[in-house]
Amino acid sequence: MSHTIKIFSPATVANVACGFDILGFALEAPGDIISVSITDKSGLSIRNEIKGMNMPLDPDKNTTTVAIQAYLEYLTVNALTYASAELSSMLSGKKGVEVVFHEKIKPGSGVGSSSASAAAGVFGLNELFGKPLNKLELVQFAMQGERAACGSAHADNVAPAILGGFVLVRSYTPLDIVTIPYPDDLCVAIIHPQIEVRTEDARKVLRKEIKLKDAIQQWGNIAGLIAGLMKGDYALIGRSLQDVIIEPIRSMLIPGYDEVKLAAMEAGALGCSISGSGPSMFALCQDRATAEKVSKVLAKTFDEMGIESHVYVSGINAEGVRVA
Ligand code: HSE
Repeated sequence: MSHTIKIFSPATVANVACGFDILGFALEAPGDIISVSITDKSGLSIRNEIKGMNMPLDPDKNTTTVAIQAYLEYLTVNALTYASAELSSMLSGKKGVEVVFHEKIKPGSGVGSSSASAAAGVFGLNELFGKPLNKLELVQFAMQGERAACGSAHADNVAPAILGGFVLVRSYTPLDIVTIPYPDDLCVAIIHPQIEVRTEDARKVLRKEIKLKDAIQQWGNIAGLIAGLMKGDYALIGRSLQDVIIEPIRSMLIPGYDEVKLAAMEAGALGCSISGSGPSMFALCQDRATAEKVSKVLAKTFDEMGIESHVYVSGINAEGVRVA
Protein backbone atom coordinates (compact mmCIF):
# COMPACT_ATOMS: atom_id res chain seq x y z
CA MET A 1 0.00 0.00 0.00
CA SER A 2 1.29 3.48 -0.91
CA HIS A 3 2.07 5.77 2.02
CA THR A 4 2.15 9.04 0.09
CA ILE A 5 -0.32 10.49 -2.34
CA LYS A 6 -0.34 13.74 -4.32
CA ILE A 7 -3.67 15.52 -4.70
CA PHE A 8 -5.05 18.29 -6.92
CA SER A 9 -7.96 20.20 -5.39
CA PRO A 10 -9.71 22.90 -7.41
CA ALA A 11 -10.61 26.51 -6.76
CA THR A 12 -14.34 27.18 -6.47
CA VAL A 13 -16.82 29.99 -6.95
CA ALA A 14 -19.22 30.11 -3.98
CA ASN A 15 -22.61 31.85 -3.75
CA VAL A 16 -22.91 32.17 -7.57
CA ALA A 17 -24.70 35.53 -7.07
CA CYS A 18 -28.04 34.54 -5.50
CA GLY A 19 -27.03 31.41 -3.54
CA PHE A 20 -25.26 32.77 -0.46
CA ASP A 21 -23.78 29.82 1.47
CA ILE A 22 -25.82 27.28 -0.55
CA LEU A 23 -24.45 27.15 -4.11
CA GLY A 24 -21.00 26.82 -5.66
CA PHE A 25 -19.12 25.39 -8.62
CA ALA A 26 -15.62 24.06 -9.22
CA LEU A 27 -13.00 25.48 -11.61
CA GLU A 28 -10.58 23.54 -13.80
CA ALA A 29 -7.77 25.78 -12.53
CA PRO A 30 -6.22 27.13 -10.38
CA GLY A 31 -6.01 24.65 -7.53
CA ASP A 32 -3.93 23.38 -4.62
CA ILE A 33 -1.42 20.59 -5.05
CA ILE A 34 -0.54 18.85 -1.80
CA SER A 35 0.95 15.53 -0.75
CA VAL A 36 -0.48 13.55 2.13
CA SER A 37 1.73 10.92 3.78
CA ILE A 38 1.28 8.36 6.51
CA THR A 39 4.44 8.60 8.64
CA ASP A 40 6.01 6.62 11.47
CA LYS A 41 5.89 9.68 13.71
CA SER A 42 2.59 10.11 15.55
CA GLY A 43 0.53 13.30 15.23
CA LEU A 44 -0.05 15.74 12.38
CA SER A 45 2.64 17.87 10.74
CA ILE A 46 2.75 20.39 7.89
CA ARG A 47 5.54 21.36 5.50
CA ASN A 48 5.25 24.34 3.18
CA GLU A 49 7.35 24.15 0.00
CA ILE A 50 5.79 27.24 -1.60
CA LYS A 51 8.18 30.18 -1.75
CA GLY A 52 6.71 33.53 -0.71
CA MET A 53 3.48 32.13 0.73
CA ASN A 54 2.87 32.07 4.47
CA MET A 55 0.42 29.66 6.06
CA PRO A 56 -0.28 28.39 9.56
CA LEU A 57 2.02 25.45 10.35
CA ASP A 58 0.20 24.71 13.61
CA PRO A 59 -2.03 21.64 12.90
CA ASP A 60 -4.79 23.18 15.05
CA LYS A 61 -4.91 26.27 12.81
CA ASN A 62 -4.26 25.01 9.28
CA THR A 63 -7.53 24.17 7.45
CA THR A 64 -6.04 20.99 5.98
CA THR A 65 -5.03 19.42 9.27
CA VAL A 66 -8.15 20.65 11.09
CA ALA A 67 -10.21 18.83 8.45
CA ILE A 68 -8.00 15.74 8.73
CA GLN A 69 -8.40 15.81 12.52
CA ALA A 70 -12.21 15.88 12.15
CA TYR A 71 -12.01 12.95 9.70
CA LEU A 72 -9.81 10.93 12.07
CA GLU A 73 -12.11 11.63 15.02
CA TYR A 74 -15.05 10.31 13.00
CA LEU A 75 -13.13 7.16 12.06
CA THR A 76 -12.11 6.65 15.69
CA VAL A 77 -15.74 6.60 16.77
CA ASN A 78 -16.56 4.24 13.91
CA ALA A 79 -13.27 2.29 14.03
CA LEU A 80 -14.90 -1.14 13.99
CA THR A 81 -16.73 -0.38 10.79
CA TYR A 82 -13.70 0.98 8.97
CA ALA A 83 -10.90 -1.09 10.52
CA SER A 84 -7.75 -1.40 8.44
CA ALA A 85 -4.13 -2.00 9.45
CA GLU A 86 -3.07 1.56 8.52
CA LEU A 87 -5.96 3.07 10.36
CA SER A 88 -5.47 0.97 13.50
CA SER A 89 -1.81 2.02 13.72
CA MET A 90 -2.84 5.65 13.22
CA LEU A 91 -5.54 5.56 15.85
CA SER A 92 -3.35 3.81 18.40
CA GLY A 93 -0.82 6.66 18.02
CA LYS A 94 1.88 4.58 16.27
CA LYS A 95 1.59 6.51 13.00
CA GLY A 96 0.90 10.08 11.98
CA VAL A 97 0.13 12.24 8.93
CA GLU A 98 2.35 14.73 7.15
CA VAL A 99 0.91 17.25 4.69
CA VAL A 100 3.23 18.95 2.19
CA PHE A 101 2.06 21.99 0.23
CA HIS A 102 3.46 22.23 -3.32
CA GLU A 103 1.06 24.78 -4.88
CA LYS A 104 -1.63 26.87 -3.26
CA ILE A 105 -4.41 29.19 -4.41
CA LYS A 106 -3.72 32.67 -3.05
CA PRO A 107 -5.47 33.02 0.33
CA GLY A 108 -8.03 35.84 0.55
CA SER A 109 -8.65 35.88 -3.21
CA GLY A 110 -12.26 34.65 -3.08
CA VAL A 111 -11.96 31.37 -4.96
CA GLY A 112 -11.94 28.93 -2.06
CA SER A 113 -8.28 28.74 -1.08
CA SER A 114 -8.93 27.35 2.41
CA SER A 115 -11.56 24.93 1.07
CA ALA A 116 -9.28 23.48 -1.59
CA SER A 117 -6.68 22.65 1.06
CA ALA A 118 -9.22 21.13 3.45
CA ALA A 119 -10.75 19.06 0.64
CA ALA A 120 -7.32 17.85 -0.51
CA GLY A 121 -6.33 16.75 3.00
CA VAL A 122 -9.35 14.58 3.78
CA PHE A 123 -9.57 13.21 0.24
CA GLY A 124 -5.87 12.27 0.24
CA LEU A 125 -5.94 10.49 3.59
CA ASN A 126 -9.18 8.71 2.70
CA GLU A 127 -7.48 7.42 -0.47
CA LEU A 128 -4.49 6.18 1.54
CA PHE A 129 -6.84 4.32 3.89
CA GLY A 130 -8.50 2.55 0.92
CA LYS A 131 -11.53 4.86 0.58
CA PRO A 132 -13.56 3.93 3.69
CA LEU A 133 -15.81 6.94 2.98
CA ASN A 134 -17.22 8.29 -0.25
CA LYS A 135 -16.74 11.86 -1.52
CA LEU A 136 -20.11 13.04 -0.27
CA GLU A 137 -19.28 11.84 3.25
CA LEU A 138 -15.98 13.76 3.20
CA VAL A 139 -17.70 17.15 2.88
CA GLN A 140 -18.62 17.35 6.60
CA PHE A 141 -14.92 17.12 7.62
CA ALA A 142 -13.66 19.65 5.07
CA MET A 143 -16.33 22.03 6.45
CA GLN A 144 -14.52 21.98 9.80
CA GLY A 145 -11.46 23.38 7.99
CA GLU A 146 -13.67 26.27 6.88
CA ARG A 147 -14.72 26.86 10.46
CA ALA A 148 -11.06 27.16 11.44
CA ALA A 149 -10.41 29.57 8.54
CA CYS A 150 -13.28 32.02 8.95
CA GLY A 151 -15.41 30.98 11.93
CA SER A 152 -18.21 29.53 9.80
CA ALA A 153 -18.49 25.93 8.58
CA HIS A 154 -20.12 26.83 5.26
CA ALA A 155 -20.06 24.15 2.54
CA ASP A 156 -20.53 26.11 -0.68
CA ASN A 157 -16.79 25.95 -1.48
CA VAL A 158 -15.81 22.58 0.00
CA ALA A 159 -18.73 20.64 -1.51
CA PRO A 160 -17.96 21.63 -5.14
CA ALA A 161 -14.20 21.31 -4.47
CA ILE A 162 -14.78 17.68 -3.48
CA LEU A 163 -17.65 16.69 -5.80
CA GLY A 164 -16.99 18.92 -8.84
CA GLY A 165 -19.59 20.68 -10.98
CA PHE A 166 -22.39 22.80 -9.49
CA VAL A 167 -23.40 21.82 -5.97
CA LEU A 168 -26.40 22.94 -3.94
CA VAL A 169 -26.39 22.76 -0.14
CA ARG A 170 -30.12 22.20 0.32
CA SER A 171 -29.79 22.04 4.12
CA TYR A 172 -27.08 22.30 6.78
CA THR A 173 -28.99 20.53 9.56
CA PRO A 174 -29.07 17.81 8.49
CA LEU A 175 -26.45 18.24 5.77
CA ASP A 176 -28.14 17.63 2.42
CA ILE A 177 -25.98 18.15 -0.65
CA VAL A 178 -27.28 17.93 -4.21
CA THR A 179 -25.25 17.98 -7.42
CA ILE A 180 -26.90 20.00 -10.20
CA PRO A 181 -26.63 19.17 -13.92
CA TYR A 182 -25.41 22.08 -16.06
CA PRO A 183 -24.67 22.79 -19.73
CA ASP A 184 -21.20 21.45 -20.68
CA ASP A 185 -20.14 24.59 -22.54
CA LEU A 186 -20.54 26.97 -19.59
CA CYS A 187 -17.34 28.85 -18.98
CA VAL A 188 -16.30 31.51 -16.51
CA ALA A 189 -14.00 34.54 -16.54
CA ILE A 190 -12.53 35.34 -13.13
CA ILE A 191 -10.82 38.57 -12.25
CA HIS A 192 -8.84 39.02 -9.07
CA PRO A 193 -8.12 42.66 -8.21
CA GLN A 194 -4.90 42.60 -6.20
CA ILE A 195 -6.43 43.39 -2.83
CA GLU A 196 -7.20 40.95 -0.02
CA VAL A 197 -10.65 40.50 1.55
CA ARG A 198 -10.78 38.08 4.46
CA THR A 199 -13.93 35.94 4.45
CA GLU A 200 -14.28 36.47 8.20
CA ASP A 201 -14.41 40.26 7.67
CA ALA A 202 -16.72 40.01 4.62
CA ARG A 203 -19.17 38.00 6.75
CA LYS A 204 -19.10 40.48 9.62
CA VAL A 205 -20.35 43.34 7.41
CA LEU A 206 -23.54 41.47 6.46
CA ARG A 207 -26.91 42.33 7.95
CA LYS A 208 -28.40 39.65 10.19
CA GLU A 209 -31.95 40.37 9.03
CA ILE A 210 -33.40 40.91 5.56
CA LYS A 211 -36.66 42.25 4.18
CA LEU A 212 -39.32 39.76 3.09
CA LYS A 213 -39.55 41.41 -0.34
CA ASP A 214 -35.79 40.88 -0.87
CA ALA A 215 -36.06 37.26 0.30
CA ILE A 216 -38.85 36.62 -2.20
CA GLN A 217 -36.76 38.03 -5.04
CA GLN A 218 -33.73 35.98 -3.98
CA TRP A 219 -35.78 32.74 -3.69
CA GLY A 220 -37.07 33.35 -7.21
CA ASN A 221 -33.54 33.87 -8.49
CA ILE A 222 -32.00 30.81 -6.86
CA ALA A 223 -34.85 28.59 -8.04
CA GLY A 224 -34.58 30.16 -11.51
CA LEU A 225 -30.82 29.60 -11.61
CA ILE A 226 -31.14 25.92 -10.68
CA ALA A 227 -33.92 25.43 -13.24
CA GLY A 228 -31.89 27.30 -15.89
CA LEU A 229 -28.81 25.14 -15.26
CA MET A 230 -30.82 21.92 -15.41
CA LYS A 231 -32.70 22.92 -18.57
CA GLY A 232 -29.69 24.50 -20.29
CA ASP A 233 -31.74 27.70 -20.58
CA TYR A 234 -29.08 30.41 -20.84
CA ALA A 235 -31.53 33.31 -20.80
CA LEU A 236 -33.04 32.01 -17.55
CA ILE A 237 -29.56 31.51 -16.06
CA GLY A 238 -28.75 35.12 -17.00
CA ARG A 239 -31.98 36.56 -15.56
CA SER A 240 -31.43 34.65 -12.31
CA LEU A 241 -27.79 35.64 -11.67
CA GLN A 242 -28.86 38.54 -9.43
CA ASP A 243 -28.13 39.03 -5.78
CA VAL A 244 -30.27 41.62 -3.99
CA ILE A 245 -29.09 40.72 -0.47
CA ILE A 246 -25.31 40.25 -0.21
CA GLU A 247 -23.86 42.00 -3.27
CA PRO A 248 -25.14 45.52 -2.45
CA ILE A 249 -23.13 45.40 0.80
CA ARG A 250 -20.03 43.46 -0.16
CA SER A 251 -19.50 45.19 -3.51
CA MET A 252 -18.46 48.26 -1.51
CA LEU A 253 -15.32 46.34 -0.50
CA ILE A 254 -14.26 46.02 -4.18
CA PRO A 255 -13.05 49.19 -5.89
CA GLY A 256 -14.53 49.69 -9.39
CA TYR A 257 -17.10 46.92 -8.85
CA ASP A 258 -20.02 48.53 -10.74
CA GLU A 259 -17.91 49.52 -13.75
CA VAL A 260 -16.38 46.05 -14.06
CA LYS A 261 -19.75 44.31 -13.76
CA LEU A 262 -21.28 46.58 -16.40
CA ALA A 263 -18.34 45.94 -18.74
CA ALA A 264 -18.78 42.16 -18.31
CA MET A 265 -22.49 42.34 -19.13
CA GLU A 266 -21.89 44.55 -22.19
CA ALA A 267 -19.26 42.07 -23.42
CA GLY A 268 -21.83 39.24 -23.36
CA ALA A 269 -21.59 37.57 -19.93
CA LEU A 270 -24.73 35.82 -18.70
CA GLY A 271 -24.16 37.38 -15.30
CA CYS A 272 -21.40 38.81 -13.15
CA SER A 273 -21.06 38.96 -9.38
CA ILE A 274 -18.67 38.50 -6.46
CA SER A 275 -16.89 35.15 -6.26
CA GLY A 276 -17.47 33.87 -2.72
CA SER A 277 -16.64 36.68 -0.32
CA GLY A 278 -14.46 38.45 -2.90
CA PRO A 279 -12.48 40.33 -3.97
CA SER A 280 -12.47 38.13 -7.10
CA MET A 281 -15.41 38.63 -9.43
CA PHE A 282 -16.79 35.98 -11.77
CA ALA A 283 -18.58 36.40 -15.09
CA LEU A 284 -20.44 33.28 -16.17
CA CYS A 285 -20.56 32.89 -19.97
CA GLN A 286 -22.31 30.63 -22.46
CA ASP A 287 -19.06 29.39 -23.99
CA ARG A 288 -15.27 29.73 -23.85
CA ALA A 289 -15.02 32.24 -26.72
CA THR A 290 -17.32 34.64 -24.87
CA ALA A 291 -15.47 34.08 -21.58
CA GLU A 292 -12.15 34.91 -23.30
CA LYS A 293 -13.64 38.11 -24.70
CA VAL A 294 -15.17 39.06 -21.34
CA SER A 295 -11.89 38.37 -19.51
CA LYS A 296 -10.06 40.91 -21.69
CA VAL A 297 -12.73 43.54 -21.06
CA LEU A 298 -12.61 42.92 -17.30
CA ALA A 299 -8.83 43.29 -17.21
CA LYS A 300 -8.96 46.47 -19.34
CA THR A 301 -11.61 48.03 -17.09
CA PHE A 302 -9.60 47.49 -13.89
CA ASP A 303 -6.46 48.59 -15.72
CA GLU A 304 -8.03 51.88 -16.80
CA MET A 305 -8.93 52.55 -13.16
CA GLY A 306 -5.32 51.91 -12.16
CA ILE A 307 -6.21 48.73 -10.25
CA GLU A 308 -3.81 45.84 -10.73
CA SER A 309 -5.62 42.57 -11.40
CA HIS A 310 -5.10 38.99 -12.47
CA VAL A 311 -7.58 37.47 -14.92
CA TYR A 312 -8.20 33.90 -16.10
CA VAL A 313 -10.77 31.74 -17.87
CA SER A 314 -11.92 28.30 -16.79
CA GLY A 315 -14.47 25.70 -17.75
CA ILE A 316 -16.48 23.97 -15.02
CA ASN A 317 -14.53 21.17 -13.36
CA ALA A 318 -16.84 18.15 -13.35
CA GLU A 319 -14.59 15.85 -11.29
CA GLY A 320 -13.53 17.89 -8.26
CA VAL A 321 -10.63 16.84 -6.04
CA ARG A 322 -8.52 14.04 -7.54
CA VAL A 323 -5.22 12.21 -7.38
CA ALA A 324 -2.64 14.40 -9.19
N1 HSE B 1 -20.55 31.63 1.25
C1 HSE B 1 -19.29 32.11 1.76
C2 HSE B 1 -19.39 33.61 1.95
C3 HSE B 1 -18.20 31.78 0.78
O1 HSE B 1 -19.86 34.27 1.03
O2 HSE B 1 -19.01 34.10 3.01
C4 HSE B 1 -16.85 32.26 1.17
O3 HSE B 1 -15.94 31.92 0.16
